Amino acid sequence: MSMDTAISEPTPALFSQIRHKPMVAPSILSADFGMMAEECRSVIDHGADLLHLDVMDGHFVPNLSMGPAMCQAIRSHFPVAFLDVHMMVTNPGDYIDSFAKAGANNYTVHVECDDDPRELAEAIHSAGMSAGLAIKPETDFEKMKPHLEHFQLLLVMSVHPGFSGQAFIPEVLETTSRLSELIRDDQHIQMDGGINPETAVSCREAGCDVLVAASAIFKKPDYGDSIARIRGQ
Ligand code: DX5
Ligand code: ZN
Repeated sequence: MSMDTAISEPTPALFSQIRHKPMVAPSILSADFGMMAEECRSVIDHGADLLHLDVMDGHFVPNLSMGPAMCQAIRSHFPVAFLDVHMMVTNPGDYIDSFAKAGANNYTVHVECDDDPRELAEAIHSAGMSAGLAIKPETDFEKMKPHLEHFQLLLVMSVHPGFSGQAFIPEVLETTSRLSELIRDDQHIQMDGGINPETAVSCREAGCDVLVAASAIFKKPDYGDSIARIRGQ
């Protein structure tokens, strides 16, 4: 039985709603993979707004992580949790249907991938998911700017994608501030990488409303305390 009502109702359009409060998205990349269901249950019970799944292909980033089978397994245990998939892969267009069938709610692609962002957004929406567009720390914001209107979520990476546990890169806050002046009220800004209760303060001030954290939650003893402090409570 959940102690918290954060994930108690189906939320298929979480990223299409008007932006109003900070959301905390635990990245299961730092969870104990041998106890994944228990780990997800614990963060949900302690106030997580959604679950963030980092998918890596060993090509776009120098690491391998998880695929649709993990998404499906989590969905089978958590019928109403919002599952946010972050695709750090070269050809994200190849996996849209697989993740939609596996129960993903949001599908984020990188602007640096080999596929066309506009076509990806259309395919993601056709598959029944909201769409996110991510940018690496070193990529020129002008590459992302023409595509903003087609995406519900704009993800600014605050570490070099591939691994959890890296230090926050503060220079990306400038990108976030620019984004927050350009987007609609029903679009969302997600920050991902090196977020902890301290770095989360500047992220929220720069306009981020979806804060991803892996190690600052799953590598700490008190998940509830970490989630609340990242949210700014
Ligand atoms: C990194 C992933 C992140 C990562 C964050 O490539 O996209 O979601 O899990 O890990 P922390 O919060 O430990 O920096
Ligand atoms: Zn991520």
